[in-house]
Amino acid sequence: MPSKSSLTATVVFLTIKPTAVLEKRLTKDSQSSTIPLSFFKKGNSVFRSLLFGFFSNDMGIDLGTANTLVYVRGRGIIMNEPSVVAVEMGTDENILAVGEEAKNMLGRTPGNIKAVRPLRDGVIADFKITEAMLRYFIRKAHGRFLLQPRPRVVVGVPSEITPVEKRAVIESALKAGAREVALIIEPMAAAIGVGIPVLDPCGNMIIDIGGGTTDIAIISLGGIVVNKSTRVAGDKLTEYISHYLKYTYNLSIGERTSEIIKIQIGSAYPLKEEMIMEVKGRDLITGLPKTLAINSEEIRQAMSEGITAVVGAVRNTLDMCPPEIASDLVDKGVMLTGGGALLRGLDKLLEEKTGLKVIVSENPLISVAVGAGKVLEDEPLMKQVIPEKDRF
Ligand SMILES: Nc1ncnc2c1ncn2[C@@H]1O[C@H](COP(=O)(O)OP(=O)(O)OP(=O)(O)O)[C@@H](O)[C@H]1O
Ligand SMILES: [Mg+2]
Repeated sequence: MPSKSSLTATVVFLTIKPTAVLEKRLTKDSQSSTIPLSFFKKGNSVFRSLLFGFFSNDMGIDLGTANTLVYVRGRGIIMNEPSVVAVEMGTDENILAVGEEAKNMLGRTPGNIKAVRPLRDGVIADFKITEAMLRYFIRKAHGRFLLQPRPRVVVGVPSEITPVEKRAVIESALKAGAREVALIIEPMAAAIGVGIPVLDPCGNMIIDIGGGTTDIAIISLGGIVVNKSTRVAGDKLTEYISHYLKYTYNLSIGERTSEIIKIQIGSAYPLKEEMIMEVKGRDLITGLPKTLAINSEEIRQAMSEGITAVVGAVRNTLDMCPPEIASDLVDKGVMLTGGGALLRGLDKLLEEKTGLKVIVSENPLISVAVGAGKVLEDEPLMKQVIPEKDRF
């Protein structure tokens, strides 16, 4: 039974039309946009804002290439699912599964179903499906509810996102039901999430290796001093493994299998005891299923180009670092986070290549979502770390 208060609120909302429609700040960097401005007019009257604010759970969202996490104000992380959606072929709205269930369908779908990852390289590749996925998460976070939830959301985005990519995130979040959207750059969110005192007058370096992007930033006084983002991250490493098996052994494997190999025996630095794993796939010459034993050394070799690119990006960022901050980093070390931080020996390799102490964060897969959530719960912090141009 809906509570009396929610019923009253519904009636009030249906009978009073918002009159003062505020044009949002998005106009500031939207001169070249092809999206009509009317789209961003959200009927944001004070009354409506209060009403939805009261009944919605504000959310911090890490809209990741590999995983989407949702942090709800006062409750913490309530959802952590792969960013995969299964839809009926020919429709982008008829969602059959989202998250883990959809991920298990990747590469195994019959003709009438497609399982897709709507984000690539850290940004939206399939707008409609991203929006549907966000709507699913927003609704799920609110449970059964009379009013359509209209939360305020803080979304993490890569640090070198283009204006067009930024707009895609804002547009999908608004269309999915958000009433206000703030964009926080992922390394800033990750730094806050792992507990780095970002407002201190002291340099801190964070490296967030996700599925699609490696985001590196040096933060001081609540702002970014230097940053670098490269679209070489966990997914590229996974791709290098399948290429290697294809060209060396004529063995074709799916994305899922390739990721499992990376997680089970992948490494960035020679291991004390190298490992062996049995891999099943399809022989490209005979066309038949085939099983092969591969070892961790060859997998490390297969991924080396990607790992070298990540190390190069870290070194480039350090090259741009002002001397005072460099001395802070010598004292404090560097924080490694994101799913890619879990690759065996990556911390050791980075220590060797930079001469700095590298610390892997406690929960690398959740740091951005925790940071976005903390910002949501702390208005003054939000004002300091998210410039006004990134709040809509
Ligand atoms: N134990 C592990 N060893 C190596 N890589 C791992 C491990 N666990 C997860 N990963 C990789 O981490 C990546 C996912 O990390 P994360 O969830 O931080 O990415 P994301 O936030 O979704 O992506 P992005 O920030 O680039 O949009 C995947 O490429 C996954 O294969
Ligand atoms: Mg991420």
